[in-house]
Amino acid sequence: MTAAPTRVLFISLGNICRSPAAEGVFLHLLAREGLEDRFVVDSAGTGGWHVGRPADRRMRAAAERRGIHLPSRARQLDRGDLLGFDRILTMDDDNLRAVRSLARELAPGSADLALIEPMTSHCRRFQTREVPDPYYGGEEGFEHVLDLLEDACAGLLETLQQDRPQR
Ligand code: 4NP
Repeated sequence: MTAAPTRVLFISLGNICRSPAAEGVFLHLLAREGLEDRFVVDSAGTGGWHVGRPADRRMRAAAERRGIHLPSRARQLDRGDLLGFDRILTMDDDNLRAVRSLARELAPGSADLALIEPMTSHCRRFQTREVPDPYYGGEEGFEHVLDLLEDACAGLLETLQQDRPQR
């Protein structure tokens, strides 16, 4: 029997910088490892200002320099996501609070609720609580976001592979 894919959702404020980058980095890793069929991957924002837009061009350019494509269009997190995904990874403390607050409203204690965690909890090399918002800063901020996300995505994949039933 083939196990159902693990559904992973990355969250940031605007869904045009950090979370689409996390989605792209994770997809890139899955493609490299030949694991695309084992996961459903998406991203969303806690805010809705940028809905429908591609990732920020500075974020896309920084990712392309590493050979990573960012395919997503911004969308806003909705309640269904809390039940539709297995794992939700948030970029900073504000995102974490927002998602946890939505989860409390929805189905307190429900076993079907996604596991909600800070993205950086999966970092192996870096020790930091947040993936900082690069939107109002310079180019080095986008590079730092990618450094953190490459570290965290590798750790996340390792954890998820250990959690999965073997086939
Ligand atoms: P993200 O970046 O949360 O990483 O997608 C941001 C994008 C836009 C804004 C803030 C953060 N903004 O203020 O419009």
